[in-house]
Amino acid sequence: MSAPVDIARLTYADLPQVIAIERRAFPTPWSLAMFVLELSKPSGICLAARREGTMCGYLVCSRYDTVWHIMNIAVDPGARRTGVATALLEELMTRVEDPEARYTLEVRQSNGPAIALYERFGFRTAGMRRRYYQDNGEDAHIMWRTPATMNGSLDDVPAAGPVTPSAPVAGEP
Ligand code: COA
Repeated sequence: MSAPVDIARLTYADLPQVIAIERRAFPTPWSLAMFVLELSKPSGICLAARREGTMCGYLVCSRYDTVWHIMNIAVDPGARRTGVATALLEELMTRVEDPEARYTLEVRQSNGPAIALYERFGFRTAGMRRRYYQDNGEDAHIMWRTPATMNGSLDDVPAAGPVTPSAPVAGEP
């Protein structure tokens, strides 16, 4: 049984530990400047997860108008599958304090663990961004969690697009 996870606001002082986890978590990690930019946005919610005082994960979420965009979430490899990302997402939703809130994110098509995590929270794939990731040309799933997705539809998702590769449109070159 793992020790409890403590969640607190992510601060500039946390960034060295964040960068260390980020480099272990992603093939193309965010730079320090990208984290600094996100932390500087007053309407965003950025969280750090610690277990026994040691940082083990973080989440960065920005607000664009009425939509919350989860920009980054990562857990140190040694702490995965112990509920850290779940605790971060639960705390995000507690802090947003709006049961009608809409959340969105992009995730690599090959990232089964993350897609499984998001689906558990009621996110559904509503479209694809072709070749979104520049390092390997991989497609992104665009996922949404809204009042509608929680009830099994995409009715309140803006411009929900096809989730299968689109066939060429007749008449186009
Ligand atoms: N395989 C299958 N399902 C998985 C999984 C895996 N490797 N990891 C998480 N899940 C699903 C499971 O349903 C899991 O519940 P369970 O353990 O009871 O079966 C649920 O998500 C919650 O898992 P949790 O322990 O809260 O997730 P985590 O703390 O391990 O973090 C990630 C999940 C995706 C954040 C973590 O694997 C990670 O940091 N990956 C690298 C960075 C990344 O890909 N971030 C997402 C970018 S969009």
